[in-house]
Amino acid sequence: MKKHIHLIAAARPNFMKIAPLYHALKKVAWANPVIVHTGQHYDVNMSDAFFADLRLPEPDIHLGIGSGTHAEQTGQVMIAYEEMLNDQKPDMVIVVGDVNSTIACTLAAAKISYGRMGEGQAGQSRTASSVNEEDRPMIAHLEAGLRSFDRSMPEEINRLATDVLADILWTPSPDADQNLLKEGVAPHKIVRVGNIMIDSLEMLRHKIEELSIHMDLGLTKKEYGVVTLHRPSNVDNPAVLQGLCESLNRISQMLPLVFPVHPRTRKNLEKTGLMDSLAGNKRLFLLEPQSYIKFMNLVFNCRMVITDSGGIQEETTYLGIPCLTMRPNTERPATIHEGTNKLCRTDQVVEQAETILSGGTRHRTVPEFWDGKTSGRIIESIKSFMQIP
Ligand code: UD1
Repeated sequence: MKKHIHLIAAARPNFMKIAPLYHALKKVAWANPVIVHTGQHYDVNMSDAFFADLRLPEPDIHLGIGSGTHAEQTGQVMIAYEEMLNDQKPDMVIVVGDVNSTIACTLAAAKISYGRMGEGQAGQSRTASSVNEEDRPMIAHLEAGLRSFDRSMPEEINRLATDVLADILWTPSPDADQNLLKEGVAPHKIVRVGNIMIDSLEMLRHKIEELSIHMDLGLTKKEYGVVTLHRPSNVDNPAVLQGLCESLNRISQMLPLVFPVHPRTRKNLEKTGLMDSLAGNKRLFLLEPQSYIKFMNLVFNCRMVITDSGGIQEETTYLGIPCLTMRPNTERPATIHEGTNKLCRTDQVVEQAETILSGGTRHRTVPEFWDGKTSGRIIESIKSFMQIP
């Protein structure tokens, strides 16, 4: 019997993490991978465009949850997914990253009971290697162990809670292994598989390199920057957002900037009237959120990136492109110690951008297992945990 494996996809940063795994699972005889889209991101250019670029089929299951407060979003995903679990009884649930749907589906799966066990057995302690013979799906977290140590970030809460509950913790880097061990996670649950996003990037490199979006904008290769901002700490506070807009206008005088605007950020720019201060600047190109291939093409050819995203810190490290991260901390320290990333306060960004533009390329190394082969290591890990010969 094929193993029925749910892959949970919810928000933009999840899609490039499930895609390589979905394609790898499709190729093995023992797996039946099923894509579950919770609906957390629902705009065409935040979701459908990514499915198309990543060659993913329509989700098998769409929970259609959408926006809401943290509790609303998390609670509604839990309720809808619990029903799906009872209906489908998957053998394994794979959650990725740190969005609200990651913890919501983990919680629902951790507490489900399929009602298959004899009396007295349910509730017994279980080990990761035996859990699939028990009464709920095995839960695996891909991109486990990352910590910013900043609990004001909703994503940090999601990471901590997911890692406590998951049976298998697939990590991207040694710091993640260490964080989990320090939190008391049993070593046999932790498997370092590497960075799955690099699999997507390598899978689509030829498509990414075929485009030249910067030329469509009248820009020259390596003579423009890319900006993304969406964190509540940067875009929900009007004073902080205003400071960032002023800085972007100043930096654009040195280096034209391409800024695909996240829906949260667009709403806030419009609400505060700050959109006008950016829209009037001819060296600042405001775009809709870009599809994966188009966005990566913009990054491949740019001089530097200014962002508050998690994933882009890693992609720029892999590509050797300088990155300024507008955050006080990062859950991805390898991008700073080994890569091209630098944390940056909002009042320092102009100065830091100048430094990058006046300096040469910084030496960097690519962290181990960021090699495009992570999905293969995950397949081996699933076989071992599920005792598949
Ligand atoms: C979420 C994740 C964050 C991730 C980010 C990437 C959580 C807590 N946060 O933040 O970790 O880095 O996605 O984008 O899970 N909206 C749309 N269309 C969409 C999606 C969202 O208009 O397709 C609007 C929503 O109505 C809401 C805002 O954007 O007002 C924020 O969406 P939400 O999913 O709550 O959080 P993000 O800020 O995107």
